[in-house]
Amino acid sequence: MKRTVLALLAAVCAFLTACQGPGEEEEKKSIRIGISLYRGDDTFINNIRNELEKKAKEYEQEHGIKVTLDIQEAKGSQSTQNNQVERLISLGCDVLCINQVDRMDASVVIDKAMTAGIPVVFFNRQPVEEDMNRWDRLYYIGVDAKETGMLQGKLIADLYREQPAMMDINGDGVVSYVLLEGETNHQDAMVRTEWSIQTLKNEGVPIERITGGIANWERSQASALMEQWISTYPDSIELVVSNNDDMALGAIDALERAGMRDVNVVGIDGTNPGLEAMESGKLLGTVSSNKEIYGSAVIELAASCALGEQPPEKYPLTDGRYYWIPQEMLIQDLDG
Ligand code: GAL
Repeated sequence: MKRTVLALLAAVCAFLTACQGPGEEEEKKSIRIGISLYRGDDTFINNIRNELEKKAKEYEQEHGIKVTLDIQEAKGSQSTQNNQVERLISLGCDVLCINQVDRMDASVVIDKAMTAGIPVVFFNRQPVEEDMNRWDRLYYIGVDAKETGMLQGKLIADLYREQPAMMDINGDGVVSYVLLEGETNHQDAMVRTEWSIQTLKNEGVPIERITGGIANWERSQASALMEQWISTYPDSIELVVSNNDDMALGAIDALERAGMRDVNVVGIDGTNPGLEAMESGKLLGTVSSNKEIYGSAVIELAASCALGEQPPEKYPLTDGRYYWIPQEMLIQDLDG
């Protein structure tokens, strides 16, 4: 009798263990996130990198799960990035966070990830829809470029309405501007420019474009362009509309060298140096994306992928794969 009871107990135990499945049996206590940045010397990307590192530590503390970040920099080369992705996969990363070098060609990265069965969270440089639709374990986190452009246009229009004399420096009834653009083919350059200028027109601000050029997000390139424009149009430039803060700072460098302090400069990003320039009265305004939310959204979505969980509800996904970071207009304290 005793023996039968024991045998029965053993059978029940074996059955319960079998039902548990491998997931519950060995709950994941550590995850590895592979990150590849398109460049390591981009100010905005560096600000995001700092947030990613901070948020990974916070996640570790809150959830009791060890988070290892492997961060690589692709130095602007897609083939370097493709090799890095291969290496990250071979290191055993559970998920990849990719700041794609060439956003028009994410196919190699996606192929490698799909073959290895590793989900990808792209960020900042948005792959084309056709690539994004290839697999249901691809996500994108970034700012909505149209919204950014519209906010920049609105920021300038608000200032024009409040202080027309400050914006139309020579009082001829028209605000004459130059335009600094980011990389060609980058969603944040093309779309921001279009919607910033369109919004100014929609808001009824009388504007005139003097000239514009591509400075690839870079302070030094923007400074060189601005220097040329100052010498070609010494008396006409009233406003610099820039696709990002770093190029706005480059324009400010050139304006300072020429001793021109009245020209208004507006950027985008809300980077640390951008915010400092606003504090010191050099940058008139910027459209700032929320870096904290940026960092948390990337880390938490990546962690959920790594753990095989549902995406966090805190960051509602558009079309099941896109999360848009909130952004706001920031204007220099003009009374201070
Ligand atoms: C933009 C940002 C730029 C630059 C670029 C890199 O969103 O405004 O400053 O960082 O991304 O992809």
